[in-house]
Amino acid sequence: MSDFFDKHLLGKSAEFAALIRAARITAMTDVTLLVLGESGTGKELLAQAIHHHSRRALGPFIAINCAALPESLAESELFGHRKGAFTGAVADQQGRIQAAKGGTLFLDEIGDLPLSIQAKLLRFLESGECQVVGQTRVDKVDTRIIAATHRDLYAQSQLGKFRQDLYYRLNIVPLELPPLCRRLDDLEMLLDTFTKQLAQRHNLSPPHYSKATLKQLRCHTWPGNIRELHNFCERMLILFHGQTIEPTHLPREFQPAKTALFQQLGEIEGFLLPDTGINLEALEISMIRQALHKTYGNRSQAARLLGLTRDTLLYRIKKYAIQAVTDSIPKKGYYL
Ligand SMILES: Nc1ncnc2c1ncn2[C@@H]1O[C@H](COP(=O)(O)OP(=O)(O)OP(=O)(O)O)[C@@H](O)[C@H]1O
Ligand SMILES: [Mg+2]
Repeated sequence: MSDFFDKHLLGKSAEFAALIRAARITAMTDVTLLVLGESGTGKELLAQAIHHHSRRALGPFIAINCAALPESLAESELFGHRKGAFTGAVADQQGRIQAAKGGTLFLDEIGDLPLSIQAKLLRFLESGECQVVGQTRVDKVDTRIIAATHRDLYAQSQLGKFRQDLYYRLNIVPLELPPLCRRLDDLEMLLDTFTKQLAQRHNLSPPHYSKATLKQLRCHTWPGNIRELHNFCERMLILFHGQTIEPTHLPREFQPAKTALFQQLGEIEGFLLPDTGINLEALEISMIRQALHKTYGNRSQAARLLGLTRDTLLYRIKKYAIQAVTDSIPKKGYYL
């Protein structure tokens, strides 16, 4: 009989399957979880699956996006407040932690939780104690926390943007969802399943993807991961239902880089070899640093920007001794 995991979290590629195995094990426990992964990789879906497979399945599953919480409201949203606790607190309000009692609270984008609230959350994680704003008494609340982030929390904690003690408390069991480009073995199955589901929903006959098109889709970097793939399937279905999709039908971002022609000429758009020449190694180091800088130290995303695998990037970071900054941190960069 298929369960929530089988039904909703599709995929059989090795890395993904290992993650699901770990998730199934942790679902049976009450341990705090940290779900990691790029945008659209299925972090919230995984949290829901874990909830459905836990002893809390009949309790509530409540999701809250920490990035959308203004600092002034975050504490009362999470822990609740008493009437008169602050200007505007006209009535008692239950916090999300209490609302999820007996169930699971999914703290999405935990990396964006204001620093001022992090200590209070840590206290709750360690003791189950929860203090409503404007109330001296502390109450014990039985709520399981599953946190998620697309950020490199370790780097954030090194930069003082995220409490280290909270990071270590959350990181007891990290579950990392691989980006779609690391689970290409699943691409065709996902494409097929989404196309069929969407065809049924829209009452249209599904399109067929030619071999050449499938090959081209495998070369795409899929920055929006499964969500991007799902949206792509819907777009193709609407435009080409009942037809065979050839590479020329694909949207512009799926076409082989316009740069192919330039590359044949030895040029990449925007990069022209000056007559005086360049120092290729220095250029490479600079590009790696810029990619790490742009992605706030997230090595998977940086590798993506550079068109490298994560392993290749790690190798080059080591080779060029590009170091993570742990002290005297510049405002934005994490690597030197
Ligand atoms: N393994 C999967 N099988 C089928 N559908 C999936 C899978 N993973 C994710 N999805 C679908 O992809 C979409 C994005 O998933 P979800 O919202 O869980 O991602 P996320 O990592 O939380 O994204 P974000 O970082 O943007 O919040 C949803 O529609 C979800 O149902
Ligand atoms: Mg999400």
